[in-house]
Amino acid sequence: MSDLENLKTSLLAEIEGASDEASIEAVRVNALGKKGSVSELLKTLGGMSAEERQTRGAAINALKTEVTEAITSRKTMLKDAAIDARLKAETLDVSLPVRSSPAERGRIHPISQITDEITAIFADMGFSIAEGSDVETDYYNFTALNFPEGHPAREMHDTFFFQPDEKGERKVLRTHTSPVQVRTMEAQDPPIRIIIPGKTYRQDSDATHSPMFHQVEGLVVDKKAHVGNLRYVLEEFCKTFFEVPSVTMRFRPSFFPFTEPSFEVDIQCDRSGPIVKFGEGTDWMEILGCGMVHPNVLRAGGLDPDEYQGFAWGMGLDRIAMLKYGMPDLRDFFNADVRWMNHYGFRPLDMPTLFGGLSQ
Ligand code: DAH
Repeated sequence: MSDLENLKTSLLAEIEGASDEASIEAVRVNALGKKGSVSELLKTLGGMSAEERQTRGAAINALKTEVTEAITSRKTMLKDAAIDARLKAETLDVSLPVRSSPAERGRIHPISQITDEITAIFADMGFSIAEGSDVETDYYNFTALNFPEGHPAREMHDTFFFQPDEKGERKVLRTHTSPVQVRTMEAQDPPIRIIIPGKTYRQDSDATHSPMFHQVEGLVVDKKAHVGNLRYVLEEFCKTFFEVPSVTMRFRPSFFPFTEPSFEVDIQCDRSGPIVKFGEGTDWMEILGCGMVHPNVLRAGGLDPDEYQGFAWGMGLDRIAMLKYGMPDLRDFFNADVRWMNHYGFRPLDMPTLFGGLSQ
């Protein structure tokens, strides 16, 4: 019997030592498979005498049963252990904070935000938006706006000229948004109430000038528009834009070929701190140019100056963005530096509205 005892001891040790499902299966095949050690013993039963079969046969069968049970229970145990290990490895901690979505992480450029703020303010006053092309003809950029041929005012604009085309016409990168005034008068009948935000270009580059910059133009044309209306519209705009209850503005006589009379507008402010404050203080800051639309410009737009009159203004968008949000250098606007955008950019879902607050 001791050969059976030995086999049993060694098989049980192998079963105990099997550490995963594959190795316990190997033990099973070696013991109980067709040519397994226990199966080989069972084959000897046929050659035994009846008496021998009763004792040795019973012992072999008992060994088979015991080994089978041991293998089954070890297999179950290893299977459970494998499942446990997998569950542990694949744990999902649902209490971890959610990573912020792209909509949360992205930033709106201050220029886009300021454009939306200005649009919201003027839309509330009944203005609509007009846009023009960045590449303009010399006619719309200058001539139609009453810049006489060879007039020094053309030089003031430091224009980027294209090579002359086959007809000898030199296109320009528009130096201001004013050409859209005449294009709009040609395309639609008065009353006209539009603002024109857009890119403009001049050969100039320092901390407060960049060769590409942004302007917002405004134009009102009807039969009665006058300087009082102009003043009201600009004051309402400045109060709402700078989010202060009142502003003091100063209209200084100036010159633009396309307006008569023309003014430059200063706004009272306090420049003693790091950020310019509006609606208080003893300093003045120039923020825009404006005036009554020149009769020649109305004529260029196909309107009779004896019937229609209007006012217009133009301001640097980048400049008022710098003033409102305290950004010191204009060149940073166009450097595409993610750190700057994270600091000065706006959250995509903070859309400026008059009822919800412009900048908060
Ligand atoms: N176009 C002028 C500029 O770029 C700004 C301007 C001044 C626009 C007076 C106007 C205006 O419409 O009336 O310097």
